[in-house]
Amino acid sequence: MTVDAIAGGAYIVAALLFILSLAGLSRHETARAGVIYGIVGMAIALLSTLALTVADAWGGAGSALGLTLMAAGVLIGAAIGLWRAKVVQMTQMPELIAMLHSFVGIAAVLVGWNGYLAHEPIAENLVGIHNAEVFIGIFIGGVTFTGSIVAYLKLSAKMSSRPLMLPGKNALNIGALVLFFVLTVWFVMDQQLWLLIAVTLLSFALGWHLVASIGGGDMPVVVSMLNSYSGWAAAAAGFLLNNDLLIVTGALVGSSGAYLSYIMCKAMNRSFISVIAGGFGIVASASSDEDYGEHREITAESAAAMLESASSVIITPGYGMAVAQAQYPVADLVARLRERGVDVRFGIHPVAGRLPGHMNVLLAEAKVPYDIVLGMDEINDDFASTGVVLVIGANDTVNPAAAEDPGSPIAGMPVLKVWEAENVIVFKRSMAAGYAGVQNPLFFRENAQMLFGDAKERVEDIIHAL
Ligand code: TAP
Repeated sequence: MTVDAIAGGAYIVAALLFILSLAGLSRHETARAGVIYGIVGMAIALLSTLALTVADAWGGAGSALGLTLMAAGVLIGAAIGLWRAKVVQMTQMPELIAMLHSFVGIAAVLVGWNGYLAHEPIAENLVGIHNAEVFIGIFIGGVTFTGSIVAYLKLSAKMSSRPLMLPGKNALNIGALVLFFVLTVWFVMDQQLWLLIAVTLLSFALGWHLVASIGGGDMPVVVSMLNSYSGWAAAAAGFLLNNDLLIVTGALVGSSGAYLSYIMCKAMNRSFISVIAGGFGIVASASSDEDYGEHREITAESAAAMLESASSVIITPGYGMAVAQAQYPVADLVARLRERGVDVRFGIHPVAGRLPGHMNVLLAEAKVPYDIVLGMDEINDDFASTGVVLVIGANDTVNPAAAEDPGSPIAGMPVLKVWEAENVIVFKRSMAAGYAGVQNPLFFRENAQMLFGDAKERVEDIIHAL
C-alpha cells in the first residue's frame, strides 16, 4: 500500500475524530472525552501529513535542506506552543486564542501567495478556479490575520476597547467588499502581481477596521467570529494545497464558530449581521457621567451573618472571580452554607468572564455540583424571591443600565437581574467600571452593599467568620 493511500485513510479517521470531538465538547459530562478525540485526531492528521510530505520530497532536488528546515520549524513552533500553553493564565486564554487565529490567517495568506508564485502545472480549464482560490484564500486569511491582531490587542488591554467610529464606516466596509469582488474578477481574467498585492493590503485594512469598530461588550462574539473566519481561511488553504482534511477541518471550525457567534448574539440580544459587519448600524452612545449618589459598604463578618440567616442565596460570578482564583473558597463557602440548610445556586451569564463557558470551567474545577449551576434564562425570574445575592467579581453582566437605560452602550444586552433580590453583596476591589467601561448603577442601589478587596481573600474571611 502506498503512503498516499494510508494517509488518505488516516485523514478520514482524523476527520471523524474531529466530529466526535465537537460532539463531545457540547456537554459537561462528555467534554473530557471530546478533548481526547481532538488530540488523537490532530496527532493522526499531523503524522499523516508529515509522512506524505517526506514521501513526496524524498530524493528530490534540495529535499535534505527542505526537510531539515521543516523539522526545525516544527520543533521550534512546538516548543514555543508548549511553553505558552503552560504559562498562560486562564484569564489570558481569549487573547492567546485570538493570537493563534492570527497565525491561521497569515498562514492562509502565505499559502495563497505560494499558490500564485510556485504551483504545479494546472489543467487549462481549471486555471480560473485556481486563481479564484488564490485570491479568496488571501482575502479571508488577511481579514482573519489583522482582525485577530486587533482582537488580541483589545483583549489584552494594549488597545482601547472603545469602538473606532470612522465617519462612513459602513460605506467603507461595503466599499471594501465591492472592491474585493471587482479585483477577484479582474485577477481571474488577468493574473497581475499588483492585483495580489492590492487584495492583500485591502484584506489587512478591512480586518483591522472590522474588529476595531466593535465595542468592548461585543468582543465575545468577535472572538468566536474570528474563530469561524480562521476555519474558512484554513478551508481555503486546503483547496490550494489539495488537502481534503484541511478542507473538512476548516469547514467544521468555520461553521461551528459561526453557529457559536449566532448563539452568543442571541444571548446578548445583538444582531448577528451587525456584529459580523463590524458594528454595522451601531451608533456610539455618549458615556454618562450621571451622579448615582453614595454607595454602602459591608464587612465580611456582617456578610457572614446575613448569609447564615438567609434561606436562599444566588451567587453570580464574573471575570473578577477568575482573576482572584476565588472558585475554590467559593465552592467551600457553598458547601458550608448548604450544610446549614441554605439553598445556594449559581446564576451564570453567557458572557461572564472572558471566554464562553469560563465560569462553568472554573466551578467544575472547584468541584461545584453541576445541578446548582444554572444559566441566566433558568434563574433570572428567581432573583425577586431571593434573600441574598453574592456578585463575585461580576460587573457588566449584572448592570441594570442594560435593562433600564436605552442610552447605555450595553442597552438591550440581557443581564442577571440581581437588583431584584432583597440584599446584594458586591465583591470587587474598587468602584471601577467593568470590561465595557460603563458605570454600574447597581452599586448605588438601596439594597446593594460593597465588600471591597480581592474576591478570594474576602470569601475566605466570610468562611472564617462563619
Ligand atoms: P467585568 O464586567 O469584566 O467586570 C469584572 C469585575 O471584576 C471588575 O469590575 C473588577 O472590578 C472585578 N475584579 C477584578 N479583579 C478582581 C479581584 N481580584 N477580586 C475582586 N474583584 C475583581 O465582568 P463580567 O460581569 O464577567 O462581564 C464580562 C465582560 O467581558 C462583558 O462585558 C463581556 O462582554 C466581556 N467579554 C466576555 C467574553 C466572554 S466570551 N465571556 C470575551 C470577551 C469580553 P475591580 O477592578 O474594582 O476589582
